[in-house]
Amino acid sequence: MGVSRSSGSVSGSAELHRAGVQFPTEAISSRASSILPMYGIGDRGELTWFPMTVSHAPIAIAGGGRLGRALGRILREAGEPVVAVACRGAGHAAQAAAFIGPGVRAARLEELPGLAGRILVTVPDRAITDTSEALTSAGMNGGVTLHTCGAFGPDALAPLAEAGVATGALHPLQTIPTAERGLTALGGIPWGVTAAGPALEWAGRIVELTGGRLLAVPAEGRALYHAAGVLACNCFTALIDAAVETLSAAGVQPGEALEALEAIVAATRENIFELGPGNALTGPILRGDAATVRRHLAALERAPASVAGLYRAAGLQTLTIARRRGLPEDTARRIERLLRENSTWNA
Ligand SMILES: NC(=O)c1ccc[n+]([C@@H]2O[C@H](COP(=O)([O-])OP(=O)(O)OC[C@H]3O[C@@H](n4cnc5c(N)ncnc54)[C@H](OP(=O)(O)O)[C@@H]3O)[C@@H](O)[C@H]2O)c1
Repeated sequence: MGVSRSSGSVSGSAELHRAGVQFPTEAISSRASSILPMYGIGDRGELTWFPMTVSHAPIAIAGGGRLGRALGRILREAGEPVVAVACRGAGHAAQAAAFIGPGVRAARLEELPGLAGRILVTVPDRAITDTSEALTSAGMNGGVTLHTCGAFGPDALAPLAEAGVATGALHPLQTIPTAERGLTALGGIPWGVTAAGPALEWAGRIVELTGGRLLAVPAEGRALYHAAGVLACNCFTALIDAAVETLSAAGVQPGEALEALEAIVAATRENIFELGPGNALTGPILRGDAATVRRHLAALERAPASVAGLYRAAGLQTLTIARRRGLPEDTARRIERLLRENSTWNA
Protein backbone atom coordinates (compact mmCIF):
# COMPACT_ATOMS: atom_id res chain seq x y z
CA MET A 1 0.00 0.00 0.00
CA GLY A 2 1.53 3.31 -1.03
CA VAL A 3 1.35 6.87 0.17
CA SER A 4 -0.95 9.30 -1.63
CA ARG A 5 0.59 12.64 -2.50
CA SER A 6 -0.29 15.54 -4.75
CA SER A 7 1.63 15.41 -8.04
CA GLY A 8 3.46 18.67 -7.22
CA SER A 9 4.69 17.28 -3.94
CA VAL A 10 6.05 14.10 -5.50
CA SER A 11 8.57 15.90 -7.70
CA GLY A 12 9.52 18.43 -5.02
CA SER A 13 9.85 15.81 -2.36
CA ALA A 14 11.74 13.36 -4.56
CA GLU A 15 14.23 15.98 -5.74
CA LEU A 16 14.89 17.20 -2.23
CA HIS A 17 15.15 13.66 -0.93
CA ARG A 18 17.76 12.87 -3.59
CA ALA A 19 19.59 16.08 -2.70
CA GLY A 20 19.66 14.92 0.93
CA VAL A 21 18.08 18.17 2.07
CA GLN A 22 17.16 18.11 5.78
CA PHE A 23 14.35 20.53 6.38
CA PRO A 24 14.72 23.24 8.98
CA THR A 25 12.35 23.73 11.88
CA GLU A 26 10.33 26.38 10.07
CA ALA A 27 9.38 23.76 7.45
CA ILE A 28 6.60 22.70 9.80
CA SER A 29 4.70 25.85 10.43
CA SER A 30 1.16 25.15 9.32
CA ARG A 31 -0.98 24.10 12.29
CA ALA A 32 -4.47 24.10 10.87
CA SER A 33 -4.01 22.73 7.38
CA SER A 34 -2.89 19.36 6.11
CA ILE A 35 -0.88 21.16 3.41
CA LEU A 36 2.58 21.68 4.86
CA PRO A 37 4.92 24.28 3.38
CA MET A 38 8.30 22.69 2.69
CA TYR A 39 11.29 24.85 1.81
CA GLY A 40 14.12 23.54 -0.32
CA ILE A 41 16.38 24.25 -3.27
CA GLY A 42 14.57 24.68 -6.60
CA ASP A 43 15.68 23.87 -10.18
CA ARG A 44 17.70 27.09 -10.53
CA GLY A 45 19.27 26.80 -7.09
CA GLU A 46 16.80 29.25 -5.53
CA LEU A 47 15.06 28.82 -2.15
CA THR A 48 11.60 27.66 -3.05
CA TRP A 49 8.40 26.28 -1.55
CA PHE A 50 6.99 22.82 -2.23
CA PRO A 51 3.42 22.19 -1.11
CA MET A 52 3.05 18.61 0.19
CA THR A 53 -0.18 16.88 1.12
CA VAL A 54 -0.02 14.65 4.15
CA SER A 55 -0.78 11.05 3.29
CA HIS A 56 -4.00 9.45 4.46
CA ALA A 57 -2.62 5.91 4.24
CA PRO A 58 -3.57 3.60 7.14
CA ILE A 59 -1.17 3.59 10.09
CA ALA A 60 0.22 0.58 11.96
CA ILE A 61 2.30 0.48 15.13
CA ALA A 62 5.20 -1.99 15.30
CA GLY A 63 5.84 -2.28 19.06
CA GLY A 64 2.84 -1.77 21.34
CA GLY A 65 4.74 -0.87 24.51
CA ARG A 66 4.69 2.36 26.51
CA LEU A 67 5.28 4.78 23.64
CA GLY A 68 3.54 2.76 20.90
CA ARG A 69 0.32 2.47 22.89
CA ALA A 70 0.25 6.12 23.94
CA LEU A 71 1.09 7.50 20.51
CA GLY A 72 -1.32 5.05 18.85
CA ARG A 73 -4.20 6.22 21.06
CA ILE A 74 -3.34 9.92 20.60
CA LEU A 75 -3.21 9.60 16.81
CA ARG A 76 -6.41 7.55 16.65
CA GLU A 77 -8.26 10.04 18.84
CA ALA A 78 -6.99 12.86 16.61
CA GLY A 79 -8.80 11.14 13.71
CA GLU A 80 -5.79 9.40 12.16
CA PRO A 81 -6.47 5.96 10.59
CA VAL A 82 -4.62 3.71 13.07
CA VAL A 83 -5.55 0.17 12.01
CA ALA A 84 -3.18 -2.32 13.65
CA VAL A 85 -0.52 -2.92 16.30
CA ALA A 86 2.06 -5.69 16.63
CA CYS A 87 4.12 -6.86 19.63
CA ARG A 88 6.37 -9.85 20.24
CA GLY A 89 3.65 -11.56 22.24
CA ALA A 90 0.12 -12.02 20.84
CA GLY A 91 -1.36 -11.27 24.29
CA HIS A 92 0.55 -7.98 24.48
CA ALA A 93 -0.66 -7.06 20.97
CA ALA A 94 -4.27 -7.68 22.04
CA GLN A 95 -3.79 -5.47 25.14
CA ALA A 96 -2.13 -2.77 23.04
CA ALA A 97 -4.98 -2.84 20.48
CA ALA A 98 -7.55 -2.51 23.28
CA PHE A 99 -5.60 0.41 24.76
CA ILE A 100 -5.31 2.26 21.44
CA GLY A 101 -9.02 1.93 20.83
CA PRO A 102 -11.90 0.50 18.80
CA GLY A 103 -11.19 -0.62 15.25
CA VAL A 104 -7.51 -1.33 15.92
CA ARG A 105 -6.55 -4.97 15.42
CA ALA A 106 -3.78 -6.98 17.04
CA ALA A 107 -1.56 -8.27 14.26
CA ARG A 108 1.72 -10.05 13.68
CA LEU A 109 4.62 -7.90 12.51
CA GLU A 110 4.66 -9.60 9.10
CA GLU A 111 1.01 -8.67 8.54
CA LEU A 112 1.59 -4.92 8.94
CA PRO A 113 2.79 -4.10 5.38
CA GLY A 114 -0.45 -5.59 4.02
CA LEU A 115 -2.55 -3.46 6.36
CA ALA A 116 -0.84 -0.07 6.39
CA GLY A 117 1.19 2.30 4.24
CA ARG A 118 2.61 4.19 7.23
CA ILE A 119 4.33 2.31 10.05
CA LEU A 120 5.60 3.68 13.37
CA VAL A 121 8.40 1.48 14.70
CA THR A 122 8.26 1.78 18.50
CA VAL A 123 10.32 -1.27 19.51
CA PRO A 124 13.41 -1.01 21.79
CA ASP A 125 16.40 0.61 20.07
CA ARG A 126 18.22 -2.72 19.76
CA ALA A 127 15.33 -4.27 17.80
CA ILE A 128 14.75 -1.52 15.20
CA THR A 129 16.94 -2.92 12.44
CA ASP A 130 15.61 -6.49 12.90
CA THR A 131 12.07 -5.08 12.75
CA SER A 132 12.99 -3.17 9.61
CA GLU A 133 14.33 -6.39 8.05
CA ALA A 134 11.17 -8.29 9.03
CA LEU A 135 8.93 -5.62 7.46
CA THR A 136 11.03 -5.68 4.27
CA SER A 137 10.85 -9.49 4.10
CA ALA A 138 7.09 -9.21 4.54
CA GLY A 139 6.91 -7.15 1.34
CA MET A 140 6.99 -3.51 2.45
CA ASN A 141 8.44 -1.59 -0.50
CA GLY A 142 6.67 1.77 -0.40
CA GLY A 143 5.02 4.19 2.00
CA VAL A 144 6.65 5.68 5.07
CA THR A 145 8.23 4.30 8.24
CA LEU A 146 9.38 6.34 11.23
CA HIS A 147 11.16 5.03 14.30
CA THR A 148 10.99 6.80 17.66
CA CYS A 149 14.47 6.20 19.01
CA GLY A 150 16.59 9.22 19.93
CA ALA A 151 20.14 7.99 19.45
CA PHE A 152 19.87 6.62 15.91
CA GLY A 153 18.90 8.28 12.66
CA PRO A 154 16.98 6.94 9.66
CA ASP A 155 19.93 4.57 8.96
CA ALA A 156 18.52 2.19 11.58
CA LEU A 157 15.74 1.53 9.04
CA ALA A 158 18.18 0.96 6.15
CA PRO A 159 16.64 -2.34 4.94
CA LEU A 160 13.31 -0.55 4.41
CA ALA A 161 14.93 2.47 2.74
CA GLU A 162 16.73 0.12 0.32
CA ALA A 163 13.35 -1.45 -0.51
CA GLY A 164 11.89 1.95 -1.45
CA VAL A 165 10.27 3.06 1.81
CA ALA A 166 10.66 6.69 2.95
CA THR A 167 12.29 6.49 6.39
CA GLY A 168 12.91 8.89 9.23
CA ALA A 169 13.47 9.26 12.97
CA LEU A 170 10.93 11.01 15.19
CA HIS A 171 11.81 11.05 18.89
CA PRO A 172 9.69 12.61 21.64
CA LEU A 173 12.04 14.48 23.98
CA GLN A 174 9.98 13.25 26.90
CA THR A 175 9.87 10.44 29.45
CA ILE A 176 7.02 7.94 29.27
CA PRO A 177 7.12 5.53 32.20
CA THR A 178 3.65 4.11 31.38
CA ALA A 179 1.34 4.33 28.37
CA GLU A 180 -1.29 6.09 30.52
CA ARG A 181 1.19 8.82 31.50
CA GLY A 182 2.22 9.13 27.87
CA LEU A 183 -1.27 10.31 26.95
CA THR A 184 -0.68 13.64 28.69
CA ALA A 185 3.14 13.70 28.63
CA LEU A 186 3.27 13.65 24.82
CA GLY A 187 1.32 16.90 24.44
CA GLY A 188 3.14 20.13 23.56
CA ILE A 189 6.71 18.79 23.63
CA PRO A 190 9.78 19.02 21.37
CA TRP A 191 10.37 16.12 18.93
CA GLY A 192 13.86 15.41 17.58
CA VAL A 193 13.36 14.78 13.87
CA THR A 194 15.78 13.54 11.22
CA ALA A 195 13.89 12.99 7.99
CA ALA A 196 13.30 14.27 4.50
CA GLY A 197 10.50 14.13 1.91
CA PRO A 198 7.41 12.08 2.84
CA ALA A 199 9.01 10.92 6.11
CA LEU A 200 9.45 14.54 7.21
CA GLU A 201 5.93 15.27 6.02
CA TRP A 202 4.47 12.56 8.27
CA ALA A 203 6.76 13.40 11.20
CA GLY A 204 5.65 17.04 10.92
CA ARG A 205 2.03 15.95 10.92
CA ILE A 206 2.48 13.99 14.16
CA VAL A 207 4.29 16.93 15.78
CA GLU A 208 1.49 19.22 14.68
CA LEU A 209 -1.29 16.89 15.91
CA THR A 210 0.28 16.68 19.36
CA GLY A 211 0.74 20.46 19.59
CA GLY A 212 4.51 19.96 19.70
CA ARG A 213 7.61 21.62 18.32
CA LEU A 214 9.95 20.13 15.73
CA LEU A 215 13.67 20.11 16.56
CA ALA A 216 15.64 19.41 13.36
CA VAL A 217 18.50 17.10 14.41
CA PRO A 218 21.22 16.24 11.86
CA ALA A 219 21.79 12.47 11.57
CA GLU A 220 25.35 12.82 12.89
CA GLY A 221 24.08 14.78 15.92
CA ARG A 222 21.55 12.22 17.13
CA ALA A 223 23.78 10.41 19.63
CA LEU A 224 24.65 13.72 21.33
CA TYR A 225 21.02 14.90 21.12
CA HIS A 226 19.89 11.75 22.93
CA ALA A 227 22.78 11.84 25.43
CA ALA A 228 21.54 15.31 26.42
CA GLY A 229 18.05 13.91 27.04
CA VAL A 230 19.51 11.05 29.10
CA LEU A 231 21.56 13.50 31.20
CA ALA A 232 18.49 15.66 31.87
CA CYS A 233 16.14 12.76 32.60
CA ASN A 234 17.77 9.43 33.46
CA CYS A 235 20.90 10.85 35.12
CA PHE A 236 18.75 13.34 37.05
CA THR A 237 16.66 10.39 38.29
CA ALA A 238 19.87 8.60 39.31
CA LEU A 239 21.06 11.72 41.20
CA ILE A 240 17.81 11.88 43.17
CA ASP A 241 18.04 8.15 43.93
CA ALA A 242 21.58 8.71 45.23
CA ALA A 243 20.36 11.65 47.34
CA VAL A 244 17.59 9.49 48.85
CA GLU A 245 20.11 6.75 49.64
CA THR A 246 22.51 9.27 51.21
CA LEU A 247 19.76 10.89 53.30
CA SER A 248 18.69 7.45 54.53
CA ALA A 249 22.32 6.70 55.47
CA ALA A 250 22.30 9.99 57.44
CA GLY A 251 19.52 8.58 59.61
CA VAL A 252 16.34 9.84 57.93
CA GLN A 253 13.77 7.06 57.61
CA PRO A 254 13.80 5.66 54.05
CA GLY A 255 10.06 6.34 53.74
CA GLU A 256 10.60 10.04 54.56
CA ALA A 257 13.72 10.68 52.54
CA LEU A 258 12.12 11.16 49.12
CA GLU A 259 9.42 13.44 50.49
CA ALA A 260 12.03 15.46 52.39
CA LEU A 261 13.76 16.26 49.10
CA GLU A 262 10.64 17.41 47.26
CA ALA A 263 10.82 21.12 48.16
CA ILE A 264 14.49 21.54 47.29
CA VAL A 265 14.06 19.67 43.99
CA ALA A 266 10.97 21.72 43.07
CA ALA A 267 12.70 25.03 43.83
CA THR A 268 15.84 23.97 41.94
CA ARG A 269 13.78 23.03 38.89
CA GLU A 270 11.97 26.36 38.99
CA ASN A 271 15.21 28.32 39.38
CA ILE A 272 16.91 26.44 36.53
CA PHE A 273 14.15 27.28 34.07
CA GLU A 274 13.52 30.82 35.30
CA LEU A 275 17.14 31.92 35.85
CA GLY A 276 19.16 29.43 33.77
CA PRO A 277 21.48 26.78 35.32
CA GLY A 278 24.33 29.30 35.76
CA ASN A 279 22.32 31.69 37.90
CA ALA A 280 20.35 28.93 39.67
CA LEU A 281 23.48 27.42 41.23
CA THR A 282 24.07 27.83 44.97
CA GLY A 283 26.10 25.77 47.46
CA PRO A 284 29.62 25.13 48.76
CA ILE A 285 31.39 24.80 45.42
CA LEU A 286 30.03 28.14 44.17
CA ARG A 287 31.00 29.74 47.50
CA GLY A 288 34.46 28.19 47.42
CA ASP A 289 33.93 26.30 50.72
CA ALA A 290 36.60 23.65 50.13
CA ALA A 291 36.46 22.37 53.74
CA THR A 292 32.76 21.52 53.31
CA VAL A 293 33.45 19.61 50.09
CA ARG A 294 36.28 17.72 51.86
CA ARG A 295 33.87 16.79 54.70
CA HIS A 296 31.27 15.52 52.21
CA LEU A 297 33.86 13.39 50.42
CA ALA A 298 35.12 11.90 53.69
CA ALA A 299 31.55 10.98 54.70
CA LEU A 300 30.83 9.53 51.25
CA GLU A 301 33.77 7.11 51.60
CA ARG A 302 31.30 4.80 53.36
CA ALA A 303 28.73 5.22 50.58
CA PRO A 304 28.50 2.94 47.53
CA ALA A 305 31.17 3.84 44.97
CA SER A 306 28.45 4.79 42.47
CA VAL A 307 27.07 7.44 44.87
CA ALA A 308 30.48 8.94 45.68
CA GLY A 309 31.33 8.85 41.96
CA LEU A 310 28.17 10.81 41.12
CA TYR A 311 29.08 13.46 43.71
CA ARG A 312 32.57 13.81 42.26
CA ALA A 313 31.42 13.87 38.61
CA ALA A 314 28.58 16.32 39.19
CA GLY A 315 30.89 18.35 41.45
CA LEU A 316 33.33 18.86 38.57
CA GLN A 317 30.53 20.17 36.33
CA THR A 318 29.38 22.35 39.25
CA LEU A 319 32.91 23.71 39.41
CA THR A 320 32.72 24.61 35.70
CA ILE A 321 29.67 26.76 36.47
CA ALA A 322 31.34 28.24 39.57
CA ARG A 323 34.40 29.24 37.50
CA ARG A 324 32.07 30.91 34.99
CA ARG A 325 30.48 32.74 37.93
CA GLY A 326 33.89 34.08 39.00
CA LEU A 327 35.19 31.61 41.62
CA PRO A 328 38.88 32.55 42.18
CA GLU A 329 41.11 30.12 40.29
CA ASP A 330 43.26 29.11 43.32
CA THR A 331 40.08 28.06 45.22
CA ALA A 332 38.72 26.31 42.12
CA ARG A 333 41.96 24.32 41.77
CA ARG A 334 41.85 23.29 45.46
CA ILE A 335 38.30 22.00 45.07
CA GLU A 336 39.14 20.31 41.78
CA ARG A 337 42.03 18.42 43.44
CA LEU A 338 39.66 17.23 46.20
CA LEU A 339 37.08 16.06 43.68
CA ARG A 340 39.67 14.18 41.65
CA GLU A 341 41.93 12.76 44.39
CA ASN A 342 41.61 9.10 45.57
CA SER A 343 38.72 8.78 43.22
CA THR A 344 37.95 5.32 41.89
CA TRP A 345 35.60 7.10 39.47
CA ASN A 346 38.63 8.96 38.07
CA ALA A 347 40.95 5.93 38.08
N1 LIG B 1 9.48 5.12 27.11
C1 LIG B 1 10.09 6.30 26.92
O1 LIG B 1 10.22 7.11 27.85
C2 LIG B 1 10.57 6.69 25.54
C3 LIG B 1 10.75 8.07 25.28
C4 LIG B 1 11.21 8.46 24.03
C5 LIG B 1 11.47 7.49 23.06
N2 LIG B 1 11.29 6.18 23.33
C6 LIG B 1 11.63 5.20 22.28
O2 LIG B 1 10.49 4.44 21.92
C7 LIG B 1 10.88 3.10 21.59
C8 LIG B 1 10.06 2.15 22.43
O3 LIG B 1 10.30 2.40 23.80
P1 LIG B 1 9.25 1.92 24.92
O4 LIG B 1 9.75 2.48 26.21
O5 LIG B 1 7.86 2.17 24.47
O6 LIG B 1 9.53 0.34 24.90
P2 LIG B 1 8.68 -0.84 25.59
O7 LIG B 1 7.66 -0.28 26.51
O8 LIG B 1 9.67 -1.81 26.11
O9 LIG B 1 7.89 -1.51 24.36
C9 LIG B 1 8.57 -2.16 23.33
C10 LIG B 1 7.57 -2.86 22.44
O10 LIG B 1 8.28 -3.44 21.35
C11 LIG B 1 7.93 -4.82 21.23
N3 LIG B 1 9.08 -5.56 20.65
C12 LIG B 1 9.16 -5.98 19.38
N4 LIG B 1 10.32 -6.58 19.15
C13 LIG B 1 11.00 -6.57 20.30
C14 LIG B 1 12.27 -7.09 20.68
N5 LIG B 1 13.06 -7.74 19.83
N6 LIG B 1 12.66 -6.93 21.95
C15 LIG B 1 11.87 -6.29 22.84
N7 LIG B 1 10.63 -5.79 22.53
C16 LIG B 1 10.21 -5.93 21.27
C17 LIG B 1 7.54 -5.25 22.61
O11 LIG B 1 6.72 -6.40 22.50
P3 LIG B 1 6.14 -7.13 23.82
O12 LIG B 1 5.12 -6.19 24.39
O13 LIG B 1 5.50 -8.37 23.30
O14 LIG B 1 7.32 -7.34 24.73
C18 LIG B 1 6.82 -4.00 23.14
O15 LIG B 1 5.47 -4.00 22.70
C19 LIG B 1 12.39 3.02 21.82
O16 LIG B 1 13.07 3.21 20.60
C20 LIG B 1 12.67 4.19 22.75
O17 LIG B 1 13.99 4.71 22.58
C21 LIG B 1 10.83 5.76 24.55
